[in-house]
Amino acid sequence: MPDSPDQPDSQDREEPQGADSDGYGHVPVLLDRCVELLAPALTRRHADGADAVLVDATLGAGGHSERFLTDFPGLQVIGLDRDPNALGIAGARLAPFGDRMRAVRTRYDGIAGAIAESGFRQIDGVLFDLGVSSMQLDQTERGFSYSADAPLDMRMDPDAPLTAADILNTWDAKSIARVLRDYGEERFAGRIADKVVKRRAQQPFSTTGELVELLYEAIPAPARRTGGHPGKRTFQALRVAVNGELDSLRAALPAALAALTDGGRIVVMSYQSLEDRIVKQAFAAATASRTPPGLPIELPGHEPEFVTLTRGAEKARQVEIDRNPRSAPVRLRALEKVGEGGNS
Ligand SMILES: C[S@@+](CC[C@H](N)C(=O)[O-])C[C@H]1O[C@@H](n2cnc3c(N)ncnc32)[C@H](O)[C@@H]1O
Repeated sequence: MPDSPDQPDSQDREEPQGADSDGYGHVPVLLDRCVELLAPALTRRHADGADAVLVDATLGAGGHSERFLTDFPGLQVIGLDRDPNALGIAGARLAPFGDRMRAVRTRYDGIAGAIAESGFRQIDGVLFDLGVSSMQLDQTERGFSYSADAPLDMRMDPDAPLTAADILNTWDAKSIARVLRDYGEERFAGRIADKVVKRRAQQPFSTTGELVELLYEAIPAPARRTGGHPGKRTFQALRVAVNGELDSLRAALPAALAALTDGGRIVVMSYQSLEDRIVKQAFAAATASRTPPGLPIELPGHEPEFVTLTRGAEKARQVEIDRNPRSAPVRLRALEKVGEGGNS
């Protein structure tokens, strides 16, 4: 399936859930496809008889992990999340799998530490299902959603120091505009930032409703009619900035690739173009030849370390989007490690 330049952003996932929500507030996206792509790596026998290990780098409600633990009876799963609330929910859901499931509270760029802490040296598969979960959006008091009035928080890790209110109330107009432009691709970034700085001189921001009200004033009516909800891009941008999401992803991908055994596989699902660009670049580097440019032949041992398993980025089929609207913006990319000699 080809790449699409007009990928909607993750905040489009504020659309209502499909009727078959699994009782955990989050319907896992492209579940069958994730299983299909990772299965060859998770069903191999290790020479020493050890079970295969999967890192679910974005455990969330544990929907993907539950399926993997069910389908692959010997599989060990290490589930990472920075959100203790998600870890609590997933922990209870996955308790029946006993010590085959280990949950670690960490940012996913801490993947190498989490693998070591869990007693493993290498892994066979890794899954990233990026962004916020439906659970987080639905917990209105956390301030991720522009559809409900709540404190302007947006931290995935409630112990992290920076909130969305801190950004709006303390950063200068230029820095706020940069965040809105770089992380939200907001055309009216400068205008919104100026209004934010003017408004906070009267009264600091404390709720999402106050921000939404300002966005209705700042974004001209014709653009509001065509550009979706006026909060869409700004809320995405603030969430990305508050959680350092792109830096975390940039650091996590090479660490995840390095942790894979030969024949190991990685699947990444992104929901907005900034994330997908980072994945695309990291995967392009991993699948490039390591022979110095200009040499007429591939130097032995310098073949690409990874091969791609998807043609461009795969999207959800319409039938899945109808059932689970939050799958609409997904872009899935996957690689397999072929190892030093180019063979698994
Ligand atoms: C889309 S949800 C995953 C849903 C999960 N696949 C399921 O089926 O339930 C993404 C999760 O990743 C977590 N997350 C996002 N960025 C993270 C980061 N940098 N480090 C660790 N966890 C992160 C979020 O807290 C959220 O729980």
